[in-house]
Amino acid sequence: MNTSIEALLNDQIKYEAQASMHYLAMASWADSNGYNGIANFFYSQSEEERVHMTKLVKFVNERGGHVIVPELSKPQDSYSSLKELFESFLSSEIFVTEQINHVIFECLDKKDYNVHNFMQWYVTEQLEEEAVARTLLDKLNIIGDDKSGHYLFDRDINMITTAVDPTE
Ligand code: FEO
Repeated sequence: MNTSIEALLNDQIKYEAQASMHYLAMASWADSNGYNGIANFFYSQSEEERVHMTKLVKFVNERGGHVIVPELSKPQDSYSSLKELFESFLSSEIFVTEQINHVIFECLDKKDYNVHNFMQWYVTEQLEEEAVARTLLDKLNIIGDDKSGHYLFDRDINMITTAVDPTE
């Protein structure tokens, strides 16, 4: 594998791991503040990011590359509002999408069509996750500071997320 592509995939392993820990901290914050639906949503997002990370680790090893299991910084573990929580979720997903686009760009530049093909799964995944994050933030912006609205949002979050069509 091209060494610059290998380095980018190792960077991506770190970003996915960081996102997993970031969402775990979000889940824990929501759990301790009585938002059980939101907590479950972020526990499961955290697991998904771990799967994204592991898929990259296995791919780099299969291609004979060297995996660097990353050191991570401590994620933010306290939020002033649900809006801040979901803004952080969306900006994290936008960041990951930008990094994936960068990997794709470099794959084309270095003519590594195998990694390019592998990364298409991440492109589709990001489209879906960004759409979910935007939909949830839109709903929270409609709700504003209304406490009963937050109660219903927490109760219905899984119904909202399964109804999202990323292509719309
Ligand atoms: Fe795997 Fe949502 O970044």
